[in-house]
Amino acid sequence: MPNLDHPVVERTDMNPLAIVTGASRGIGAAYARVLADRGYDLLLVSRDETRLTHLARELEANHGIQAHVFIADLSQSDAAHQLFVESRQYRQTPDVLINNAGFGLYGEFISHPLPRIQEMLHIHVRTVAESIRLFLPGMVERRSGAIINVASIAGLFPIPHFAEYSATKAFLVSFSEALAEETRDTGVVIQACCPGQTETDFHASAGFRPPGFLPVQTADQVAHTSLAALPNKSPVVTIGWQGKLTALAIQWLPRRFLIKSVGRITKLARNL
Ligand SMILES: NC(=O)c1ccc[n+]([C@@H]2O[C@H](COP(=O)([O-])OP(=O)(O)OC[C@H]3O[C@@H](n4cnc5c(N)ncnc54)[C@H](OP(=O)(O)O)[C@@H]3O)[C@@H](O)[C@H]2O)c1
Repeated sequence: MPNLDHPVVERTDMNPLAIVTGASRGIGAAYARVLADRGYDLLLVSRDETRLTHLARELEANHGIQAHVFIADLSQSDAAHQLFVESRQYRQTPDVLINNAGFGLYGEFISHPLPRIQEMLHIHVRTVAESIRLFLPGMVERRSGAIINVASIAGLFPIPHFAEYSATKAFLVSFSEALAEETRDTGVVIQACCPGQTETDFHASAGFRPPGFLPVQTADQVAHTSLAALPNKSPVVTIGWQGKLTALAIQWLPRRFLIKSVGRITKLARNL
């Protein structure tokens, strides 16, 4: 039997449906596993058909849910609309939308290829904003649902050598907090999830190796903490004591000192 105790989801005859973008690996795959365990049907999204199909079959076999895959490049201009149309095949409105797909770019801004910067702006900002514009009205009308935007602790302060990454994640934090307030009395929960350094393929694909002294989280820990926080309706969720400590330090440290110090640390990170 599916576990429908989730406080932001209505009880219906069907399993609730969660959409997870960037579900082929890392944090997205971890969200998919936790949600499948809670009895959610899934719409898993990424560009990697092999990995997505493998994960979908595994989750269907282990949890008795339905897992659909949607192969999409979320940096394309009509990605949000295509996702919306695809999801309508399964439900009028999803119960949970997790905007998780993303990637990092390490190094000086002027060294980054323009097409990669455009791709990042598109995935982290445009596709997320457009998706929420398309999916949120249905949730508000139904008076239930949850949207999680996977931002980053990097969205809480500017990070030299990750300039556009931290700026796009700052957009997600600010956008989520504002929308959470706008939708406060609608039964819909909006959360910016802000992981710290997490063990995934993220660092390798961003082209950097973080300094060894920084604490590391698991993707599973991120997914569990984020989903467990939904009933509290916290608009910004950090992970573990390290996340809380970092968020506190960011509030109290003088901004110029913070940016300078962080810039020194990110300079230590070696190009792969
Ligand atoms: N790992 C960390 O330390 C960390 C910390 C804070 C925040 N985050 C955030 O967590 C989220 C997930 O990252 P991760 O750590 O799990 O990294 P990951 O293992 O590299 O996974 C990234 C996911 O995003 C998908 N993706 C990337 N570009 C895409 C595109 N154009 N279209 C569709 N899907 C795309 C990838 O799918 P395909 O390649 O299969 O298309 C993959 O499923 C990201 O938003 C990241 O910024 C990560």
